Order: sequence, then structure tokens, then C-alpha cells
Amino acid sequence: MRPQLEKFIEEIGKDAVAIIPAAHEKQRSYDTEYKFRQDNDFWYLTDFPEPDAIAVIDPAKRNKFTMFVRPRDPEMETWFGRREGTDGAEKNYGVQKAYSIEKFEKMFPKMLHGKDKLYYRFGLDTSLDKLILQYLSGQRHARLKTAYPPHTIIDPSLIIHEMRLHKTDEEIELMQKSADIACAAHKLAMRKCKPGMNEAEIESIIEHHFRMNGASGAAYNSIVGGGENATILHYVENNAELKDGDLLLIDAGCEYKGYASDITRTFPVNGKYTKAQKEVYDVVLDVQKACVEATVTGTTVQERQDLSIELLTEGMKKLKLLKGRTKTLVKEKKYMQYYMHGVGHYIGMDVHDAGRYFEDQKAKNSRPFAPGMVLTVEPGIYVPADAKDAPAKYRGIGIRIEDDVLVTEDGNRNLTTKVPKETEEIEALMNKGKRKARSAKK
Ligand code: GLY
Ligand code: MN
Ligand code: MN
Repeated sequence: MRPQLEKFIEEIGKDAVAIIPAAHEKQRSYDTEYKFRQDNDFWYLTDFPEPDAIAVIDPAKRNKFTMFVRPRDPEMETWFGRREGTDGAEKNYGVQKAYSIEKFEKMFPKMLHGKDKLYYRFGLDTSLDKLILQYLSGQRHARLKTAYPPHTIIDPSLIIHEMRLHKTDEEIELMQKSADIACAAHKLAMRKCKPGMNEAEIESIIEHHFRMNGASGAAYNSIVGGGENATILHYVENNAELKDGDLLLIDAGCEYKGYASDITRTFPVNGKYTKAQKEVYDVVLDVQKACVEATVTGTTVQERQDLSIELLTEGMKKLKLLKGRTKTLVKEKKYMQYYMHGVGHYIGMDVHDAGRYFEDQKAKNSRPFAPGMVLTVEPGIYVPADAKDAPAKYRGIGIRIEDDVLVTEDGNRNLTTKVPKETEEIEALMNKGKRKARSAKK
């Protein structure tokens, strides 16, 4: 049994039972499906990779970890792929007792009977919701002498998401690997990028590298935006020509064994930042470094956000994007013309990972960082092409720099230092091969 599951069993206690469903395949169009992606909470607890399974966890039983799985079926497996079946689930995934999923409907009421608490997350799986509601409603009408349905229903994510937020050493290793693959992909994009290429070519170089190096693919839709496209925060068309003199913003990360990386770099298509581009870049870079430094135990999410806002506002003043007193500009949220998103988020199995951002959700008191949390640090400045108040030389420039940072006992560890972010280093990397090629031609 995975240590995560052992801990979960301990947390829910003997008067509880948990029902945790796997994801289902999702239709993409007509009779084709999206590539299957497991539900993270289910995956985190069980490691089981297949769709349509249901884990039932009962800390009071000898078989605490039961799972209902798709049965072996030669015909289905010929058409749609191998299955673990009940034997595989028990042999390879520490399931103590596995049943065919077809038995779930008949068996689960007995598994809930006599329990005070049911850990189940309504709203994820409507057909399972319906089954559980039918059972509960049936119990309401049953004779009181015999009925004993759980009287308290709790969302298991309260426990699982807090566990997911604090990464174990094993998880950190996977996250470092995910980060390493993505760093190398960004470096490759820097080396290959040339004016006249299409954003799609760069996207394919990056995603090819992901797949060739053990990642299952991109952790989210890659953003590859040249020129003004970099000022669109979630630009994903990735189909425009890259022009000489423009910047290219790439926000791309991969998924490795279920763990995401999330990296942004912004570099010149032709390998040399213009003076104006460098001016904006250096402002963002200084703020990014200060916010990396602030990503340590004790700093709160809000303090780090406020720091990014204050420093970026000062930077925008320096660039003459804004005029006035910093305090007033911050209060009036003037910076939002050019910086309209948060400075970062938790990252793990989900790119925007699980875990509360407030110590007390009601009081909205921001939560301090703690060892084991991994957060992105991603300030940016985006000057729309039609920003009439901005100096003309900055219009159409979009810059974001994003790293993934692990909070440690005595500071932090940046997982994504293997791809450069200093302008000189990026230029050197971009021009290394090219200079050699030019001199060979002569
Ligand atoms: N790539 C999504 C984000 O940076 O949050
Ligand atoms: Mn990103
Ligand atoms: Mn991010």
C-alpha cells in the first residue's frame, strides 16, 4: 500500500468509509476519445492507471483497500488495450481485495452500512452521485431498526488536497525530473528559433522533446506567442509566423509520471534583445528574482503577491508606463493595465495544484508557505499594441518569466534553473550554434 494511502486511512479513522472513483474516458468527437488522464486524487492514493475503477477504503476492515476494476476481457482488450483486471490490481497495486466493477452497485450498500461517516466528493461523477443518493434516499425510507447509513458526508479532498500540497521526497524527485525535461525543451526552442519559423514549429519541437524524454506530453496547452501574441495571456493558437525583431514568449511544461512543470521564458526571435525589449525584460527579471527569494517558509501567498505588485508598479514607473505615487497606483490598481494575473500558484499533479490558499477560508487570511510546497513564480508585463498611454517603443511587448520553486526548511530550491533567464545567457545560448554555422559557411 502506498504511504499516501496509509496516511489517508489513518486520517479518516475507523468509523468512516471512503469511496474514491477513477476518471472515465471522455468523448472528443463522435466515436473518438481524448487521451485518457487519471483523476489526480484517485491516482495519488492508489497509483492505479485505468479508467472506471472505484476504490473503497475502510480503515476498520482487514482488507482496508478494496477496488472495483474493469474485468479482463479478451475482446475488449484486443480493441481497446490491456487491462489489469482483479488479479493485476491485487498483484501490482497493493489492492487487498479487487472485484469486477459490475459488482459495485450490488455490493457498496453493505460496505457503507453501519458507518458514521462517508468520505465522498459529490459533483465529480454524476452517475456515481446518483447511485449513492439513491442508496441514501432508500435508507431514509427503510425501517429504523435495520437502517444505518452514514450520517455525515465529507469531501475527502479536505484531507487529500492538503496531503498533495506538501510534497514527499519521492514526489519532489518526480517534479525535478519533470522540470529538467521542460528546461531542456525550452533550451532547444531557444537554439532552434529563427525568424520566419512558425510558432507551431517551436511548439512541436518542445512537445517532441517532452515525449522523447519520458514525459507523457504537455502538462497544459503550450503557449507559444510571438510579438503581440505574447500579450494574450492564454494564447494557444500557436500558428503565426515568428518575425525578426519580435520577442517569443513560451509558457510550456510537461507531465512526468503525473507531475507537472510550468516554465515561461521570453526571448528574441533573432537571438538579440532590442534595447526597449531588454528594458522591460530586466524589470520583470528583477521582480521575478525578488519573488523567488520571497518564496520561503513563513511568507504568505498574499505578501508575495503584494510584493510583485509593488515592485512591478515601481518598474512600470521607471519605464514610464505609469506615472504617480507607487502607493496610489497600487491602491487604484493601475498596474492591472499591464500585469493582470497572480504571481504564482501551487504546482504538483495539477499545474494549478490542489491545496487551500487561506488558513481560514472564511476569514480569508492568507496562508504562509511551508516546506514541501512547490509554487510557480511568474510575474509579467504585457503592453497591448494599442496602449496609447504607453511609450511607443514598448507597445506590443509581452514578457513573463516563470520558475517552479520548492519551499525548503532553510529557504528554497528553484527546480527550473537549468534553462537560463538572464538576457546575456539566453543570447549566448541562442547564438552559439549559429555563429559556428556562419563561420563554417565562410
Ligand atoms: N501555464 C499556466 C500558468 O502559468 O499558470
Ligand atoms: Mn505557465
Ligand atoms: Mn504558472
